[in-house]
Amino acid sequence: MLQLTSQDLPRIKADTLIIPVCEDRVLYRSASLSGWAQKPEAISSFSAAAEEILEFYQPEGLPIGRIVYVGLGPSGDLNAEGLRQAAGRGIRRAWQDRPASAVLAVPDINLTAELAPGQVFTAAAEGAYLANHTLATYKTKKKKHPLKGIRLLVAVKNTRTFRRILKRVERTCRGTVMARDWVNLPANDKPPRDLAAMISREARQAGVTTKLMDVRQIKRHRMGALLAVGGGSRQHPQMLILEHKPTRSRDTVVLVGKGVTFDAGGLNLKPTGSIEMMKIDMAGAAAVAAAVITAARLGLKKRIVGVLPLVENMVSGTAFRPGDIVRSYSGQTIEIGNTDAEGRLILADALAYAVKHYRPGCIIDLATLTGACVVALGDRIAGLFSADAALREKILESSRQTHERCWSMPLPDDYRELLKSDLADMRNIGPGRWGGAIVAALFLSRFVGDTPWAHIDIAGPAHTRKANAYSEAGGTGFGVRLLCDLLERL
Ligand code: BES
Ligand code: MN
Ligand code: ZN
Repeated sequence: MLQLTSQDLPRIKADTLIIPVCEDRVLYRSASLSGWAQKPEAISSFSAAAEEILEFYQPEGLPIGRIVYVGLGPSGDLNAEGLRQAAGRGIRRAWQDRPASAVLAVPDINLTAELAPGQVFTAAAEGAYLANHTLATYKTKKKKHPLKGIRLLVAVKNTRTFRRILKRVERTCRGTVMARDWVNLPANDKPPRDLAAMISREARQAGVTTKLMDVRQIKRHRMGALLAVGGGSRQHPQMLILEHKPTRSRDTVVLVGKGVTFDAGGLNLKPTGSIEMMKIDMAGAAAVAAAVITAARLGLKKRIVGVLPLVENMVSGTAFRPGDIVRSYSGQTIEIGNTDAEGRLILADALAYAVKHYRPGCIIDLATLTGACVVALGDRIAGLFSADAALREKILESSRQTHERCWSMPLPDDYRELLKSDLADMRNIGPGRWGGAIVAALFLSRFVGDTPWAHIDIAGPAHTRKANAYSEAGGTGFGVRLLCDLLERL
């Protein structure tokens, strides 16, 4: 979807030329943009503040339909995310009622000491790619038309390095929109078996091996927690395992993703107002699957395993009940305090299985686990839980690079008693509502032994109710770029 160009402006033919501009500084050194590189000073209503846009139709002497100036604010505030968003806004402005062509100018001066030219380029390319994704709707008449292709205008001398970066951006963003598409599918079109098939198809195309455990094999493996959650649905649970195994790989990284294709809450049924969006409860699995597939496309040298418990949490005469006691794969018994705390149950079996079978150097899970995490951090920041300081720092660094924001949360030992049960080894909820995200993370920690582990609660950022600069309303694909960046760091 993305291409590079370094043609001079008079020779560029396009419907739209997008030029991100600052309030107080020219961001383009190259002669190619000639006089068009600055915000038009004569137009006083446009100050190039962040989020401001100016459209300029039929610029004289250019074979271009219009120029879209996108404000970046004052140069002192410039950062990669600002560029990502500006590129995204420009691309969305270029969408028309027909397939159109666009060229995005990429700033080419050394902006700040912290922002290398490669990072500027990466951010602009990501914003452009991600903003050009549209919902795969079920409308009989398609209304929106994303751009067929986007050309990134850069200075000649840089095109070599940029071509390499571009390949990487295209792969990670392709993974991100793949995850979005899975999350956006309605639950009736992605029961566990179908979702497993969809993911497997993409995985095999990328050279990732797949192994699917059906309900019989899940029973044979005595994954009692996963089976309990799946018991209420006619759609049986599945356990999908993806593996990227390059030759001569030593360490193994396991990624685990919560894959609840619909979370009705079970017998602790969710009320109106909470149940409607629960098709997104497999966003962790979607992000993990897309990350493993992308890792293969990037040719990463590590062995990467994705473990995806896929299940529907429903209400019926065969559903598990509050008060039930289940035996998890690890052997530990769990008293069910609430059937709506199902994510931690399926992750318990997935984590324990992963630790036993793959003996990974580290294990990371992504899950839309708790509403409490959204209460704590809002819906744009994920909660990061890890007792391993080195792993935590790497995740936070990837988080800064990709602007998929994570905030480190505590795992206090004295809170463990909140999970005490009179009858079983533990309960799946605490006695009250407070610290719900922490309690859930502490529950998970009982299934990873001493394997270095991190848990990322993405209940907030997995989804956005309103469109933002580079994502439409719906699944955001949160975590895919973060994991891809992280896998190269580990
Ligand atoms: N899938 C939900 C968490 C969730 C909430 C995801 C909002 C996305 C948006 C999870 O399974 C759940 O129901 N958690 C309960 C736990 C409680 C019963 C201890 C919650 O957060 O209320
Ligand atoms: Mn739930
Ligand atoms: Zn859930």
